[in-house]
Amino acid sequence: MTSEFGAKFDRVCDILDRHKRSRSSLVAILQEIQEAYSYLPEDIMTYVATALGASPCAVFGVATFYSHFTLSAKGRHVIKVCDGTACHVKKSDDIIRAFREAVGLAGQTGTTEDGMFTLETVACLGACGLAPVAVVGAEEVHGALDPAKARAVVDAIRAGEAAGGEPSAALPALAAAGSPAGGAGPAGKEARDA
Ligand code: FES
Repeated sequence: MTSEFGAKFDRVCDILDRHKRSRSSLVAILQEIQEAYSYLPEDIMTYVATALGASPCAVFGVATFYSHFTLSAKGRHVIKVCDGTACHVKKSDDIIRAFREAVGLAGQTGTTEDGMFTLETVACLGACGLAPVAVVGAEEVHGALDPAKARAVVDAIRAGEAAGGEPSAALPALAAAGSPAGGAGPAGKEARDA
């Protein structure tokens, strides 16, 4: 067994052991696995099913039920662009296109080949008063976007990575511009096409 292979499954073993390999802890186990691996790899899910004495179907069923879980690897920077009604009226299509071209995606959404960016669209980020809106990562909100600002967001992320620092420090996040009208924030909103 290669050390890489062993390390991969050592991590999930630790998680399973912490939860005493209890089926009732399946959601918590999957949450920790996602934190450890950034997503839920298929082979790990199958391993979890075997370890818990559950069917792979049951484990995959839970993983696909909750929008919080993702079954595919994401880029280091996840950009969620709102395409809800308020943002759509304010030309979110142009923002999505600008992000797509700036990160170098061939498709409408997805993850870039270099693993740097994942671009998603979401139904509403709960910040309709700042439409059109996008969120980088978990909480970096950018409002009142236009294509030039979208490109600047991507440029700042690239510059941040090149400098080896935190890209968010260079970003003109607009969260401080005021409380978003029309919602409570981006957390927990379901990705439309994750
Ligand atoms: S519709 Fe875009 S934030 Fe609500």
